[in-house]
Amino acid sequence: MTAVEEIVYGSNMSSRVVSWLWLLLLLTVSVSACGASVCPCERPEFCQQIRPRRDLEVFLFDVGGQTWRSYNWSMVTTVATFGKYDADLMCYAHSKGARVVLKGDVPLSHIVDQDNRTAWITEKVNLAKSQFMDGINLDIEQAVEEGSPEYHALTALVKETTEAFHREIPGSQVSFDVAWSPNCVDGRCYDYVTIAESCDLLFVMSYDEQSQITGDCIAMANAPLTQTLNAYDEYLKLKIDPKKLVMGVPWYGYDYVCLNLSQEGICSIAKVPFRGAPCSDAAGKQKPYKWIMKQVQSSMSGRIWDSKQEAPYINYKDPKGHIHQVWYDDPQSICAKADYVTSKGLRGVGMWNSNILDYSGEAVARQQTAMMWNALLGC
Ligand SMILES: *[C@@H]1O[C@H](CO)[C@@H](O)[C@H](O)[C@H]1NC(C)=O
Ligand SMILES: *[C@@H]1O[C@H](CO)[C@@H](O)[C@H](O)[C@H]1NC(C)=O
Ligand SMILES: *[C@@H]1O[C@H](CO)[C@@H](O)[C@H](O)[C@H]1NC(C)=O
Repeated sequence: MTAVEEIVYGSNMSSRVVSWLWLLLLLTVSVSACGASVCPCERPEFCQQIRPRRDLEVFLFDVGGQTWRSYNWSMVTTVATFGKYDADLMCYAHSKGARVVLKGDVPLSHIVDQDNRTAWITEKVNLAKSQFMDGINLDIEQAVEEGSPEYHALTALVKETTEAFHREIPGSQVSFDVAWSPNCVDGRCYDYVTIAESCDLLFVMSYDEQSQITGDCIAMANAPLTQTLNAYDEYLKLKIDPKKLVMGVPWYGYDYVCLNLSQEGICSIAKVPFRGAPCSDAAGKQKPYKWIMKQVQSSMSGRIWDSKQEAPYINYKDPKGHIHQVWYDDPQSICAKADYVTSKGLRGVGMWNSNILDYSGEAVARQQTAMMWNALLGC
């Protein structure tokens, strides 16, 4: 990119002509190198990047497969594609006015170096162009110490990526994934304020909130309501614009084996330490909503609502006789969170991930799935 700029802004006329020839050559080479760029869509206009911005962002992560065909496209605004590139998905999303964005993930140690960072950004911009994508979602999720070289490199990466995408793909969107709280969760001590200013939106991953359990080692909700909303208050206290925040809710839960299930229903879990805390949700296994809905049917307890954490759970016995407790989110717990999006004027809502509902079309599943989508818009 830097080289091209120098060429374009070269001073005298004759060198300009030569420069333009060089630029042409460069473009030809880079276009053919990317295998670009015949529009794969039925209609050529579906290859055009999406420019208008809708009031409420509904931001999905698609991890691959064909379930995207059953999404509620009337509400979708952005799909971050974490599976392998699917041109049909891109064409379809564009036909519905929804953006499709790349995944951006790089070890921070590699991009402390400015040339490496620029090269990485250029590669992503070219990839997005060749695949007719509308931006990028930066999913870094690495531990960073405040003031370290990686800390500054990350901030610069977000700023430079946003500048490059906005310049090269007008109307494109650059988003950045942050933990549920800005307080160095899982060692992520980022410059949240500058990062928020430097990109279009932060996707707040309001889940995995038990990654560092400091109290009793017991099974708890993936995203308790009060803890979740207090953390948004923390983001807002940093003077981050609410219109930069998209609330990410989980469409999955945690299945814990109980070492002991007390009469009050408290499930003690194995001690799996994480980043200085004695236990963690790493003692459990993540399960999709689709699986959980089946498990509710065969559970010993049926769905139990915890009014303190404002989340549902079940207890079940596995074939070996071990008791499990599964904490999850459902339309009741999700819509309460989504109401905060409206009341605080946040940019929107989204989930990890959009594939894990039951899209089989079977009657009960169809209704459960529709209710999960509709809960994103509030109660
Ligand atoms: C540049 O990035 C590559 C990977 O793309 C990495 O192997 C290399 O170590 C990086 N160089 C520096 C100086 O960070
Ligand atoms: C295990 O649960 C039983 C039944 O509620 C209770 O009496 C007992 O104190 C618990 N044991 C431990 C170690 O928590
Ligand atoms: C899809 O979402 C819209 C709101 O945008 C809602 O009115 C509609 O009922 C939903 N469709 C289904 C099948 O639930």
